[in-house]
Amino acid sequence: MCAALPVRAETVEEAAGRHVFDHCKACHSADPGKQGFGPNLHGVVGRPAASLPTFMYSEALKASGLIWTEDNLRAWIAGNDKLVPGTRMRHVAITDRAEQDYLIAYLKTFGDSMGPEQARVLLDRAVGKVKSDGPDKAFAAFNDPKGGFVARDLYVFVFDMKGKYMASGGNPKLTGTDASKLQDAEGKAIVSEMINIANSTGKGEVDYMWLNRVDNQVEKKRSMIQRVGDYIVGVGYYFH
Ligand code: HEC
Repeated sequence: MCAALPVRAETVEEAAGRHVFDHCKACHSADPGKQGFGPNLHGVVGRPAASLPTFMYSEALKASGLIWTEDNLRAWIAGNDKLVPGTRMRHVAITDRAEQDYLIAYLKTFGDSMGPEQARVLLDRAVGKVKSDGPDKAFAAFNDPKGGFVARDLYVFVFDMKGKYMASGGNPKLTGTDASKLQDAEGKAIVSEMINIANSTGKGEVDYMWLNRVDNQVEKKRSMIQRVGDYIVGVGYYFH
């Protein structure tokens, strides 16, 4: 027995999901340290697809632009090659809605895994979106919770070179507001620092204290930013 760990009883759904996971565990582990024939599934619910740096994903999955939302996970386990033609994962065909529910409930017990790699994947996708679709369409997608650019507590924000919000997946209502004088919880002028970076090296990182809307705590956040034309595109992750 390990008395120091907080113990939470497994729900009936989670227990049922553990059995459904028997279809997966030959290839997938939920133990963050372990890699299998398939990618590690620790914290997979809400994770950007193909975002583990240590796994060799298929080109098809890398190009999918998917976030593993519950809907996408359902579609994936029902018919992964329909959702992502060209994927290397074998067909598992779990089409029963209840079995899908149980499996997702179980996958959720694996916890969170949002860190620098996932933020980097999201930033690269966002920069690619601005370049391919143009700013207006891209900013609308960043602000849309279902636009494919919100992954749990990761989201995309954009400023113009004067510090005006062009988009913020964390709070779309900020769009159009002036953030040039914005300070973090400790008085650091974060947007002017981002503008300085954008004007000098064009990309970099800024650390600050920020409200995490997912757990409503002020936490240390690191944002990676990149200049694209006359815009600053960024994605930050929290240190929990
Ligand atoms: C025979 C091996 C195998 C089985 C069984 C299997 N998978 Fe996979 N899975 C893979 C491989 C390989 C990939 C990587 C696919 C690619 O790169 O196209 C993958 C990818 C995934 C991903 C994407 C993860 C990411 O980081 O983007 C999810 C989610 C997933 N599998 C869930 C499941 C679930 C849930 C089951 C059980 C219902 C399952 N898999 C069964 C081999 C398997």
